[in-house]
Amino acid sequence: MGFEHTSVMPKEVHAYQNLKPGDICVDCTLGGSGHALSTIKAILPHGMLIGIDQDMDAIVNAQKILSPFEQNIKLCHSNFANLPDILQTNNVKGVNSILLDLGFSFNQLVNGRRGFSFNKNEPLDMRMDIRTPLTASHVVNTYTEKNLVDIFFKFGEEKLSRKITRAILRKRAEAPIETSKELAQIIVDATPAKQAFKQKIHPATRVFQALRIEVNQELSQLETFMKEIPSMLVKGGRICIISFHSLEDRIVKHSLKKFENGCTCPREFPRCMCGFVPKIKLISKKPLLPTQAEIDANPMARSSKLRVAERI
Ligand SMILES: C[S@@+](CC[C@H](N)C(=O)[O-])C[C@H]1O[C@@H](n2cnc3c(N)ncnc32)[C@H](O)[C@@H]1O
Repeated sequence: MGFEHTSVMPKEVHAYQNLKPGDICVDCTLGGSGHALSTIKAILPHGMLIGIDQDMDAIVNAQKILSPFEQNIKLCHSNFANLPDILQTNNVKGVNSILLDLGFSFNQLVNGRRGFSFNKNEPLDMRMDIRTPLTASHVVNTYTEKNLVDIFFKFGEEKLSRKITRAILRKRAEAPIETSKELAQIIVDATPAKQAFKQKIHPATRVFQALRIEVNQELSQLETFMKEIPSMLVKGGRICIISFHSLEDRIVKHSLKKFENGCTCPREFPRCMCGFVPKIKLISKKPLLPTQAEIDANPMARSSKLRVAERI
């Protein structure tokens, strides 16, 4: 099946990247390469784009889509948390633009065959990088009751986490839960009809999000990455980050704010003792949101938020 690129907020990202010919840029989440394509066109003829994705399918797709620009690209099958090492290996001291478009891609959901969708009957895998050891099946079938409740509650903000966990435990005592459809049905059965009727989303949405976050260690990888932002950008270089749920956005917001504030001394201190100075400025104080027209055309954009900052 073909790879599609349904990039979120393409015009806004392009405008805020503020690119010019010759820039060195990183797309940390290639996905369908939609943003990457517009980035590379803006930095020709001598610019360079380092494209990263932890999913090999996205790298293979990028090799095809970006093949007319092969002189100007370097593709890395890696986690963006490794970006400082990737830059060092490529002898790059700082870049003009970094883009993160978090979460999973349309392709992973529709063609991934790894159980990302509760509408499909696929093996419960959910790894974006199939070289990593932890699968959704392992989580669902072996984690303790307490761990499952915590994960569903923390990463999925699922109010029925206890009830759903107990239903999972009952089923897995009979036989291992093997597929996405099987798990989705257990969640549907555990959701009171009244509650399911009130919800705008499928009852399995939150648990599936929680499992994906756990399997791919999404929040800790993002936290690791965010700590290094100032050291990876040249002065005037920009970072654009699109997040899709409040857990991601909170990490992005707080990390950027920390670098914007600089000093971390308690307010009562008469003068700064920590020596930290502001390293970035926020380009948009509030996150940018997609237009209603974009949400109508691409429902996956529904919950997206774009934050932009510049190295000073
Ligand atoms: C929303 S899609 C990106 C879509 C892309 N911007 C486009 O225009 O088509 C997210 C992609 O990021 C990748 N990804 C998510 N977390 C990652 C991480 N920590 N390191 C590397 N790639 C990651 C996923 O595998 C997926 O392909």
